Amino acid sequence: MKNKEINKNVILKKITVSLTVVLLMGALTAFSYNTKLTSANNYIRVPDATQKKKDSVASVKAFAKVYSVLMSPRCMNCHPKGDVPLQGEDSHLHTMQPKRGKDGKGLYAMKCANCHQPENSPGLHAPPGNPNWHLPPSDMKMVFEGRTAHQLAKQLIDPKQNGHKDMKKLIEHADDGLVLAGWKPAEGYALPPISHAEFKKAWITWLENGAYAPKP
Ligand code: HEC
Ligand code: HEC
Repeated sequence: MKNKEINKNVILKKITVSLTVVLLMGALTAFSYNTKLTSANNYIRVPDATQKKKDSVASVKAFAKVYSVLMSPRCMNCHPKGDVPLQGEDSHLHTMQPKRGKDGKGLYAMKCANCHQPENSPGLHAPPGNPNWHLPPSDMKMVFEGRTAHQLAKQLIDPKQNGHKDMKKLIEHADDGLVLAGWKPAEGYALPPISHAEFKKAWITWLENGAYAPKP
């Protein structure tokens, strides 16, 4: 009887010890997983999945397509070098010169959303619409206008210039609401040179093959 009691105790202890070990290991795994996730945000070239198919030729070739879209008026008009957005096929300065403002949503009473509604307004020369219509903020202007393919490729993957985006966020940006808005222009305006599906494919091919910049 006594022996049995002792045995029971030993077994109970053993179970407690193994349970503790399992719990500790779980906590450790969770912790290291977490640090991996956070530190990944500081890198652009995320190892594993993205690096194994590095191919500079495919990457640069895909970027040529990406660049043709970025420089099209539907995208560039919102990525001007100054603080006034651009308009139309010739990317002239926006009439009435609304200004970027700190958050990109306009300055003082001249807010983008005063005129740009959640949807395109009907009619020729009516403002195109999107619930989030604005320029990049003044501390991170994300300028496309005037940039060469070489300059823009480098700028796009630099977290200090791209809105702190890592590889995952860059890939996701292909489906951003304002990017999609480029393919829903106001009446009478041309679409970007390739379809959104082709753009997205080229964007991901460029990034996943090493995000190479074309020669200057
Ligand atoms: C209504 C204005 C607007 C339009 C139109 C627009 N963008 Fe942007 N874009 C922004 C804003 C604002 C940001 C910053 C927000 C963010 O980073 O999420 C941005 C950020 C970006 C970025 C990230 C910046 C970087 O350096 O990586 C990319 C890439 C981009 N836009 C591509 C496009 C493409 C492609 C189109 C056209 C198909 C387009 N944009 C059309 C306003 C616009
Ligand atoms: C007073 C009204 C008004 C305000 C304020 C305004 N816009 Fe516009 N915007 C328009 C109109 C109208 C058009 C279309 C013009 C045309 O087609 O001739 C337009 C067109 C544009 C275009 C061109 C789109 C394209 O596909 O070529 C961009 C980009 C743009 N606005 C950005 C902005 C941003 C960013 C702000 C805020 C900083 C802003 N606008 C503030 C009225 C306004």
